[in-house]
Amino acid sequence: MKISPYIENLIEKAGKLNKTIVLPEGEDERVLQAAHEAAVRKIAKLIILGNPNEIKAYFEKQNWSLEGIELLDPLQSPKLKEYAKLLFELRKEKGMTEEEAAKTVLIPNYFATLMIKAGDADGMVSGANHSTADTVRPALQIIKSAHKDRVVSALFIMVAQNGKTYYLSDCAININPTVKELVDIALSSAESVVQFGDEPNIAMLSYSTYGSGKGEGADKVREATAMAKEALKNQEYASLKVNLDGELQVDAALDAVVAKKKAPSSNVAGQANVLIFPNIEAGNIGYKLLQRLGGAEMYGPLLQGLNAPINDLSRGCFAEDIVGVIAITVLQTQK
Ligand SMILES: CC(C)(COP(=O)(O)OP(=O)(O)OC[C@H]1O[C@@H](n2cnc3c(N)ncnc32)[C@H](O)[C@@H]1OP(=O)(O)O)[C@@H](O)C(=O)NCCC(=O)NCCS
Repeated sequence: MKISPYIENLIEKAGKLNKTIVLPEGEDERVLQAAHEAAVRKIAKLIILGNPNEIKAYFEKQNWSLEGIELLDPLQSPKLKEYAKLLFELRKEKGMTEEEAAKTVLIPNYFATLMIKAGDADGMVSGANHSTADTVRPALQIIKSAHKDRVVSALFIMVAQNGKTYYLSDCAININPTVKELVDIALSSAESVVQFGDEPNIAMLSYSTYGSGKGEGADKVREATAMAKEALKNQEYASLKVNLDGELQVDAALDAVVAKKKAPSSNVAGQANVLIFPNIEAGNIGYKLLQRLGGAEMYGPLLQGLNAPINDLSRGCFAEDIVGVIAITVLQTQK
């Protein structure tokens, strides 16, 4: 399996944390291959949901050991009733009945999310066979946002062709974030980048740099920048080394020559490594352009701001991508 140097570095850090990651899609060969690789490399202890006999047969056929991997059929789990009760208690105020909870718990993404809630796993990686919404919804309903009143958002890690690492948000969850939600996205991104062992230089992106362009979009980003700068003065961020500035066009954010002309006083322009997009359209289109035409390696969408890490995979992912996301999920368990 070909693993990129960036992910190799994360794998080394993840292996030291001794965490348990649940993979709800045991019917998918790519998931089984990734679980095998992750177990051999001791990135985490893995729990695979699915049919244990079929999974065992697949491993035997490959001549692979199941050391470090637990197989679990939700239907046979002694904890099924406990998890259904937990789900009912968590969702009854939202109108869920006991009957609905007993059915919903059997959906693998819900079962896995409830395992995390109950403390039986530390994180989940899913989405090789499910849409973003189906992977993310149980997390939003059960695990919930770690910060009161802060939206959960999605981050992509990008390794560009020049070898540099960049972080992009929110390209996958919040469709048209408000000023406050843009601030949430920037703060969560700062925390994520620190978790991955990097220093955040955050550019709040727009089509305008320091007032060069007019319109509601630029006003929104300018306002969010001011609010985020204020928030970063709070005690909880004092220990994080975070630079943030905006509103910046992407060329001013990334290119030192352009930055000198457009935003010479900025401590971020020309050296940004975190790009905060004004909405999901800019973010989603932007990351796919970088991936398809720019040849960048992309990991995500990674959920940030949840009480425990749950990550989505692209349905077109390869087994090596899943290994990378398992390592990232382990690192996100760090507080
Ligand atoms: C993420 C997403 C699926 C959630 O939508 P949904 O399932 O309709 O969710 P709902 O609005 O019914 O909310 C479900 C729960 O999640 C919570 N929630 C929704 N979005 C949230 C967010 N960004 N942060 C925190 N909580 C959120 C809601 O408060 C609600 O909680 P409750 O039921 O306990 O009150 C939706 O935002 C979405 O579709 N985003 C775009 C996804 C997409 O297409 N991405 C592009 C491809 S990657």
